[in-house]
Amino acid sequence: MNLSEKYLSIRKNTEAICEPLQTEDYVVQPVVDVSPPKWHLGHTTWFFETFILLPHVPQYKAFNADYNFVFNSYYESVGARVIRTDRGNLSRPTVIDVYRYRAYVDEAMNNFLRCDFKPELLPLLELGLNHEQQHQELLCYDIKYILGHNPLFPAYAPENIERNLTNSQPGYVAVEEGVYEVGFNGGESFCFDNELNRHKVYVQDFEIATNLVSNGEFLEFIDAGGYQNFNYWHAEGWDWVRNNNINAPLYWHIVDGKWLKYGLGGLQALNLKEPLCHVSYYEAAAFAAYKNQRLPTEFEWEVASEKFKWGKLWEWTESAYLPYPGFKRAPGAIGEYNGKFMVNQKVLRGASIATPEGHARHTYRNFFHPHLRWMYSGIRLVAEGS
Ligand code: AVJ
Ligand code: FE
Repeated sequence: MNLSEKYLSIRKNTEAICEPLQTEDYVVQPVVDVSPPKWHLGHTTWFFETFILLPHVPQYKAFNADYNFVFNSYYESVGARVIRTDRGNLSRPTVIDVYRYRAYVDEAMNNFLRCDFKPELLPLLELGLNHEQQHQELLCYDIKYILGHNPLFPAYAPENIERNLTNSQPGYVAVEEGVYEVGFNGGESFCFDNELNRHKVYVQDFEIATNLVSNGEFLEFIDAGGYQNFNYWHAEGWDWVRNNNINAPLYWHIVDGKWLKYGLGGLQALNLKEPLCHVSYYEAAAFAAYKNQRLPTEFEWEVASEKFKWGKLWEWTESAYLPYPGFKRAPGAIGEYNGKFMVNQKVLRGASIATPEGHARHTYRNFFHPHLRWMYSGIRLVAEGS
């Protein structure tokens, strides 16, 4: 695949994710963390327009100069923007306008990539494509949240990615203590700046589960009063449980004494064998405490990752999202991409059923605040070695 084919295929996938939506589904923002699908479609387009077309294609004219205000997410270097909580208040630009914006930018990008692309722009293009893939995954989370918090519980589509949410054989594998190298070391291929520099870490003996915690196992925690027992929880987690009346993972509903779960196919009976999904870090840590086990650090996870199957769910780690040794923010707006979020968040490792093909790596560092659980997040436990 050449560059313009690769570009167009990734851009098409984003639109394919939105294909089952009705116009009204594109616009709402039920909570601050969930962006309207329309906004994702515009923002990913804005990224190519702002960082590639405007600075590097002399004859290019912006589709609409006002879109910078609407579709800039968080780049202080690029100017003022609509505040995040107001993304769902915009009836304009319309969904049709946003699709026209996409077509306009795609045509300009296609011409540029085929005729006068400069190789030194490859890293920026790859960042734009990986950015679009990150938003494809966020679109899945946000669409699920929008539909799953509608009292009618509409399905997204009967055939969907959640069919792939299967588990591995139970068991543990041991990792021997020692010095290991972690971080990206792939030479030519793409990585995010937060995966660098590769460096050495020391890990103690540990054993890590080959499978993810299942719904059935988590139900035992619920039935054992886990959400009512402060002993399992961090202080912040306990406050979160009480302030928000949390008593189950996101999307779980008890109806006539039976547990149901909302999925992209609609409300269904809870499948006890399926991997547990949509828990916060607080819940992951409380569950581990209940089991007298713990979460892996991100380094333990990376070192052990060749010994188990991963990629179904993002796995909470015990690690704070911090810079690796030698990490430097790139100059300019691109330096705002990851580095400025390295405070008060936890690292998740792996990938999920919503991660686009070819986007995952065993050195990939995802990160979210500890109370968030609308992403495809799950739990892999660690037992200490003897
Ligand atoms: C890596 C998923 C935490 O949601 O802000 C999107 C991905 N970065 N646009 C996020 C991202 C810039 C990022 N996460
Ligand atoms: Fe973004």
